[in-house]
Amino acid sequence: MPPSSAPLTQKPEWQALLQQKSQLVNVAMRDLFHTDPQRADRYLITGAGLSLDFSRNRLTDETLSALTNLATACGLPQRISDLFTGATVNLTENRPALHTALRQPADSSVLVDGRDIIPEIHATQARMEQLDRDIQIGTQTGHTGRAFTDIVSIGIGGSFLGPKLAVEALKPYWQSNLKCHFVANIDGTDIAETLKPLNPETTLFLVQSKSFRTQETLDNSLVAREWFLTNGGNENAIASHFMAVTANTDEAVRFGIHPDNIFPMWDWVGGRYSLWSAIGLPIALMVGMDNFRALLAGAHAMDCHFKEAPAEQNLPVVMALLSIWYNNFWGAQSHAVLPYDEYLKHLPEHLQQLDMESNGKKVTQRGIPVDYETGPILWGGVGANGQHAYYQLIHQGTRLVPADFVIPLTSHNQVAEHHAALFANCLSQARAMMAGKTEAEAAQELVDSGLDEASTAALARHKAIPGNKPSNILLMDKVTPETLGALVALYEHRTFVQSVIWDVDCFDQWGVELGKQMGNEILPRLIDNGEVGSAGDSATDNLVSLFRSANRR
Ligand code: F6P
Repeated sequence: MPPSSAPLTQKPEWQALLQQKSQLVNVAMRDLFHTDPQRADRYLITGAGLSLDFSRNRLTDETLSALTNLATACGLPQRISDLFTGATVNLTENRPALHTALRQPADSSVLVDGRDIIPEIHATQARMEQLDRDIQIGTQTGHTGRAFTDIVSIGIGGSFLGPKLAVEALKPYWQSNLKCHFVANIDGTDIAETLKPLNPETTLFLVQSKSFRTQETLDNSLVAREWFLTNGGNENAIASHFMAVTANTDEAVRFGIHPDNIFPMWDWVGGRYSLWSAIGLPIALMVGMDNFRALLAGAHAMDCHFKEAPAEQNLPVVMALLSIWYNNFWGAQSHAVLPYDEYLKHLPEHLQQLDMESNGKKVTQRGIPVDYETGPILWGGVGANGQHAYYQLIHQGTRLVPADFVIPLTSHNQVAEHHAALFANCLSQARAMMAGKTEAEAAQELVDSGLDEASTAALARHKAIPGNKPSNILLMDKVTPETLGALVALYEHRTFVQSVIWDVDCFDQWGVELGKQMGNEILPRLIDNGEVGSAGDSATDNLVSLFRSANRR
């Protein structure tokens, strides 16, 4: 079936989904399970070491076909091919998005402007490996010859969230006593508290910035540099303690980083897709290059699954279509990601940038305003803790919050029966969301506990839980470099598939620019001592005055 040129909401496939919604609106998921004993088996699919149980969703086989028909009508197969082959998928910035090339094997090839980019990717990995080895065996040390004990990675957004997620998630694989710290925030507290316990002689700074123009990163790096110089370092020693990963070598050199200490980034890697590049150096240095390569291999396995698996068996495609289903047909405004694994605690933060910076868009690729909702608000946190906080709203609030539960079958830490308890919590929450509890069931429980009739009638209404709340359970054997790589790549492709349906550019982020520009106009008004003109509106001017008096300017 060729893609249709009709606007999204006028495509027959969209209309078919509206029909599906009206057929399912009064259908309870618990009844779908009763009438279809094969449902759980049919809606459990696997790929790249991950399994997706999507049986607890408001859909039937017909709905699934209608969703995949929509994907085909939006040209998904061609767009997947475009993504992998280096076509210009980022139209507003006129470039490809080739994060998938970063995890391809050395004997493959991907052409950008007629040049194969795979050799330089692997040459960079070889440099990362060399650095890792030299630090481990002690041939690369601080300027006084002492081995490095601490790495400080300075970067923000994609130059921070992905590496931080992976470093923390792969803690069982840390290879030595080396510690890794991340500084992102322009709030001086971040760098000040990070530097406090560190010894400049044994600290290595990685300045991580694709553009080398990001205020937070540059200001924090200047503070780090000054701290190093005033605590026993000197200009010559900077080369031993400061490295950079950037696509803007000239600026990095101007900043004072030695050219030999600069690892490349490329135009065709988006910030939020960059943990697979040398931006992943903190990961490689913490877990070793073999494990970093295993992370890449896991992501590559997911890339192959995404390219090859039929739509209805394809994890990223199914997850993206389910998200479209609730976002566009059931009015869901947000999506929760709930990892049931302490090591994955930073997953929601990384996915928040990935998804919201990618799909928070209001015009189509050709600049036409959309007449449908695009990216939902993605949020979440580690399960179990959330159960005692925001799950109440998920179960009984008025909003629909579809959720992804992410859980490994086995734990790195066999502590009593904790993992079984954790797993039970995850399953019970998914089941409670799906099945709920009717008012009659709640009343019966109260009667059984001996409550009188009047109190039962009053309380049952509060205890009833509507259920019919959709969720996915994503499973892996254990959190390993391979499964983590596959997991992150899965969400990357899920994000891409959604953008294809919504016809938005998921690789640009113009929305973040205005705030940066205005920040540059406001800052001098806060720090100059003399007369300052208006920043443009009285509300801003009032608070500028308040700040100036609080800081005596
Ligand atoms: O402000 C958003 C952003 O542009 C992200 O897309 C990016 O990951 C981050 O800033 C950091 O950018 P850079 O790596 O160029 O410092």
